Amino acid sequence: MKILEVLRQNLGKEAVLEGWVHGIRGNNHLKFLQLRVQGHILQIVLEKEKLGEDLFSLWKGLPQETSVRLRGEILPNEKAPFGLEMHFQNGEVLGISKDFPITPKEHGPDFLHNHRHLWLRSKRQLAIMRIRSELSFAIRLFLRELGYVLVDTPILTGSVGESAGTLFETEYFDLGKAYLAQTGQLYLETAIFAHEKVYCFGPTFRAEKSKTKRHLTEFWMLEVETAFFSQEKNQDLQEHMLKRLIQHILEFCYLDLAILDRDIKALEKLVSKEIPRVLYKEALDILQSAGENIHWGEDINAEREDVLTAHFGGAIFLCQFPKEIKAFYMKENPMDSKTVLSADLILPDSGGEVIGGSEREEDLSLLEEKISREGLPKGNYDWYLDLRKYGSVPHSGFGLGLERLVSWISGVGHVRECIPYPRMIYRITP
Ligand code: 4AD
Ligand code: MG
Repeated sequence: MKILEVLRQNLGKEAVLEGWVHGIRGNNHLKFLQLRVQGHILQIVLEKEKLGEDLFSLWKGLPQETSVRLRGEILPNEKAPFGLEMHFQNGEVLGISKDFPITPKEHGPDFLHNHRHLWLRSKRQLAIMRIRSELSFAIRLFLRELGYVLVDTPILTGSVGESAGTLFETEYFDLGKAYLAQTGQLYLETAIFAHEKVYCFGPTFRAEKSKTKRHLTEFWMLEVETAFFSQEKNQDLQEHMLKRLIQHILEFCYLDLAILDRDIKALEKLVSKEIPRVLYKEALDILQSAGENIHWGEDINAEREDVLTAHFGGAIFLCQFPKEIKAFYMKENPMDSKTVLSADLILPDSGGEVIGGSEREEDLSLLEEKISREGLPKGNYDWYLDLRKYGSVPHSGFGLGLERLVSWISGVGHVRECIPYPRMIYRITP
């Protein structure tokens, strides 16, 4: 925290702080003004005896979210946030605020989301956004250390990436329809032939009609693709990365986790425990033994994911799904042609699927067959099929949903609080 470094260097000295009035507490002689400075709440002490009646009553009466510039002495105080406080001498009001809609009382989620532009100033929201920012940075750092190259993939595309059912379409000049990217994967696959180890990280769009706690219509996805890489190595990489990201947050965001009241033990447990690799068919057996009426070929829904993570006591990989319920590009399992070499990483305590990945089909004719079986226009995939003609190699990759990871790490029950401006089927503003 830059601001704290600066203040700690200035202990015992006079300083100037600029920020917003978060709240004011205290009695008729002594007030504690909570000032939000660079996203952190600092304590400012107002003493009537020192300031005199007029100055004291002007400052103690400032409405919430008034912006101010203050001068005072920075002194240590073990009981104050971050162990220091400013003793107010004088200051100026920069912008008055009147009737700020978000007060310390409880507000419903709809009200808060309608005021998202103002809600972002709240203490919990500040903590969530810092965790998001830090994760985003840690992801890039981790991949850079392993020699991965960032390849930015397009958002306007001419082909379907995941499934034709969830596309946002737009007219594209004289060229017909364009779609908002559901994935950067197919483009990322082209880049492994150049760089071998690549990733993209950006907004992704799905016109999904799901009103769950895990779905947004615009979300951020990290996608990683590696040449000469088996699905097994792909899962090793995912496990290693996930643990490193959680460690990073434990190290750098412990104050934010405390603001959010997050049970740190759950995070530490994930870091220290090996993630079991459970085959789809084993999962079916476990679910059936638990009394669930589920059959081969059915997807595993959120409730059943919870049954499975509870059974294994933590995160799991769910591997080798039936090929009919997975995307066309996934490689057929050489040991069992009914399934593909896929894995979803499922987080415990209703975290759900945070990563989806697979080895990719290398075989040109199998790929052509699957594209036509799914009714996708083959002409749009010529460039993708070219990759299997010019030096095809075994390769694997995965996609991680940033908001789902932020929501699990923060212990926030809904992804809509984990992105600054959530887009959902029933919300496009603010
Ligand atoms: O499993 P998905 O659909 O996989 C892909 O898109 C692959 N092309 C990734 C790859 O192999 N390169 O999505 C990957 C992850 C999910 O596990 C989930 O975390 C997140 O993206 N995700 C969503 N997050 C929020 N809202 C949605 N509607 C999401 N759909 C997927
Ligand atoms: Mg998936």
